[in-house]
Amino acid sequence: MLFLQTTAGIYSQLIPYLASRFLSILHPLSCILRPPGVEKKLRFNEYPEFFIVFSKSHYNLYTTMSKIRVAVMFGGRSAEHEVSLQSAKNVIESLDKQKYEPVLIGIDKEGRWFLNDHSIQLLNTSDPRLIQLSGQQQEIALTPTGSRSQLIRMHEKSSLPKIDVIFPVLHGPFGEDGTIQGLAKLANIPCVGAGILGSAVGMDKDVMKRLLRDADIPNARFITLSAINRDSVSYDAVTAKLGPTLFIKPANLGSSVGISKVRNNSEFQKAVKLAFDYDLKVIVEEEIKGREIECAVLGNDDPLASVPGEIIPNADFYSYQAKYVDEDGAALSIPAQLPEYLVKQVQDLALQAFRVLECQGMARIDIFLTPDEKLFINEINTIPGFTKISMYPKLWEYSGISYTELVDRLIQLAIEDHDKRGKLKISMEF
Ligand SMILES: Nc1ncnc2c1ncn2[C@@H]1O[C@H](COP(=O)(O)OP(=O)(O)O)[C@@H](O)[C@H]1O
Ligand SMILES: [Mg+2]
Repeated sequence: MLFLQTTAGIYSQLIPYLASRFLSILHPLSCILRPPGVEKKLRFNEYPEFFIVFSKSHYNLYTTMSKIRVAVMFGGRSAEHEVSLQSAKNVIESLDKQKYEPVLIGIDKEGRWFLNDHSIQLLNTSDPRLIQLSGQQQEIALTPTGSRSQLIRMHEKSSLPKIDVIFPVLHGPFGEDGTIQGLAKLANIPCVGAGILGSAVGMDKDVMKRLLRDADIPNARFITLSAINRDSVSYDAVTAKLGPTLFIKPANLGSSVGISKVRNNSEFQKAVKLAFDYDLKVIVEEEIKGREIECAVLGNDDPLASVPGEIIPNADFYSYQAKYVDEDGAALSIPAQLPEYLVKQVQDLALQAFRVLECQGMARIDIFLTPDEKLFINEINTIPGFTKISMYPKLWEYSGISYTELVDRLIQLAIEDHDKRGKLKISMEF
């Protein structure tokens, strides 16, 4: 039996409407009240004059009054475009459809946004090399003007229904680097994962390593090349400081794109040129000989660290080929075979790095473990891979959090953080 009761007269006309809405699935902690002509989301705690009383058998219905519209964004202007498509496919499949309504936004390599029909979002999904966005959908844009229209159709100039949260499944620049996070912030929409600062820091290996160094968190020694010193730094000078084997990387990229391992001057020259094809800043690192351990972190103020996993590359290093193309390119070991005290050290280090690097929501922290049991942070990924074989969801699965629950928690963390920030003062009170 369902009873609806209100002390505010203006809402009394809504009661029959609400009663009918109760049969649909609703949003936790909020309910959609739609008097004719009005579309506004009201929260119970903001409208204490409005009460809903219902029998125990309807208790479960209370928690869900309308589905949360999650804009899943994928693709993007990035060398990791295809990886993102594979990740997004899994995130979309894992969304609890009772609670969430996915709104699929595919971004092509030129940066155009398309609304993707669920059935036609991707082509060639079974082959990671051929996977691509299907191109015939409606072009859309997100207006950064705050609360009124958000998503608009570019050609018709009409708005689409509001979205409640953005889940950027975008790897690399123009997605993982603070750009989408900035747009979401301007548009006042919660966004899963790190904010602008954490995303930008996590993307830029040079700044990331400087912050780690400042916090005394061990990481490979390095030098940074840019237009200023690119032509004046010689291979001999670098090896004198960092040793004979070096890793050359574009500062802002991922998935091992543009990365080389070098052992002599001619490899060094080629590698530097290649890395500068992808970025205006390049880092040169000493080699750390060790096992590659990865740890997943989940949370905002009080984050959790997963059991660590291990990547065992079957190549010279964990290259793009080994990651995504060659099926036998690397083996994953979950959990990593480590004694308990090292598990604890890895988790503590991962949580420390998560905080120092201003992360939120999620991150995968990649660590080297040397034969003499020293730990070095290699890098941090603020939007880790979500493909079927990706470490981040697999580590949580092993730690007891299913893919669906993980996606659910990430969305709730984004909403929680957004609500908290929404309560901050934006002007001085006199
Ligand atoms: N300093 C280093 N010492 C040894 N191996 C390294 C070093 N830096 C990178 N690698 C190897 O290269 C891979 C890719 O480098 P990484 O910095 O993680 O770039 P990406 O962000 O593209 O994943 C690592 O997983 C590891 O196998
Ligand atoms: Mg890496």
